[in-house]
Amino acid sequence: MSNPSQSALPKVSNEMAQLSVSENQLSTFGLSTQLSLLGRNTDEQYGFVNPPLYRGSTVIHKTLDSIENSKGKFYYGAAGSPTVANLEDAWCHLTGAAGTVLSPSGLSSITIALLCLVKAGDHILVCDSVYQPTRVFCDGLLAKLGVRTQYYNPLIGDDLEELIGPNTSLIYLESPGSQTMETQDIPTIVRIAKKHGIKTILDNTWATPLFFNAHGHGIDISLEAGTKYLGGHSDLFIGLTSANEACWPALRKTYDTMCALPGADDCLLALRGMRTLHLRLKEIERKTLELATWLSERSEVAEVRHPAMKTCPGHANWLRDYKGSSGVFSIVLKDAFTRGGLENMLENMSLFKLGFSWGGYDSLIIPINPRAYRTILEWPQTGFAMRVQVGLEDPEDLKRDLELGFDRLAGKN
Ligand SMILES: Cc1ncc(COP(=O)(O)O)c(C=O)c1O
Repeated sequence: MSNPSQSALPKVSNEMAQLSVSENQLSTFGLSTQLSLLGRNTDEQYGFVNPPLYRGSTVIHKTLDSIENSKGKFYYGAAGSPTVANLEDAWCHLTGAAGTVLSPSGLSSITIALLCLVKAGDHILVCDSVYQPTRVFCDGLLAKLGVRTQYYNPLIGDDLEELIGPNTSLIYLESPGSQTMETQDIPTIVRIAKKHGIKTILDNTWATPLFFNAHGHGIDISLEAGTKYLGGHSDLFIGLTSANEACWPALRKTYDTMCALPGADDCLLALRGMRTLHLRLKEIERKTLELATWLSERSEVAEVRHPAMKTCPGHANWLRDYKGSSGVFSIVLKDAFTRGGLENMLENMSLFKLGFSWGGYDSLIIPINPRAYRTILEWPQTGFAMRVQVGLEDPEDLKRDLELGFDRLAGKN
């Protein structure tokens, strides 16, 4: 006898509400509508708004031909699932990429992108403002594999051409750079790269595709630590690496060899984060600008490095190429405070937390020291520097938290 509750399940039919639209139709909608529709197909989900979670390793095939030739859209869990494909497809739509692969962290999406474009004997150019673990990967594993990394000033502009040699295969960009926040002149770098047949990779995590269109600017491979703004709630790790037509086959092939798949739950959480990405980013942008401006007027602060502020190196590039700014920037304090004062300030904040991974709803503040590991850029400042990430709290509360913190810094309480 059939289970009555099962037989009561409605058959997927045209009478049910269908939110699925064609790729062409999707592109005619505004961004908010697109973000709400991407990566789901209600008529295939029994009318449920959100896609189901597919966990799985084994995929059952019905014929010998199918299993012998890995046929079917999904033939083995490690090669993809509907949950993975929903996020990959949505990201391709958002970035205009030919293809996207997902990985278990932002750092793994960086290493996959690099490994897919280099071989032993190559010389690669990497901006000196790169996320520090990327540098560790280049100086460690890539060096061991026979790839030589040369760092360049992120604001080098046309002079980058002079660094190109006969075996230069790749230019790596991160814009704005980690900690020092320089927005790079991406059109100039892409022009030079194309002239010499060199590929480009951009870490676009800070801006996301909403604030910077990497492939539209000619970048070959763009990556996003979805751990940050896409997830948005500090509860997942995921990386998204997208490629244009020219680099997609190499990226997919490298990825398939490495089998670096994120967990299905994290893919679903990332897809959920996509629905509100624009709302969170706009709110964070507004609050961050308010706070950065306020900080720039404080007597304790020597410099604020926020890409949307005139004082930030590379600001003109940001103004020309970016559609918005997110919530991470840096400040440098005047050279008048002690380590004890800094500890008293940072260890006793109420709202700003000491934590690494940004992009969530909590505000964070951590000390930074670019001088300790940069090899090209001179860091002229001598005062303590800090990276600030603004979350979703009220700016007035954040200012009060900082105000009390500055008092502790100065030994006033
Ligand atoms: C600019 C940038 N790219 C990549 C990453 C790596 O992301 P994940 O923490 O997911 O490995 C980070 C992490 O902080 C980052 O700041």
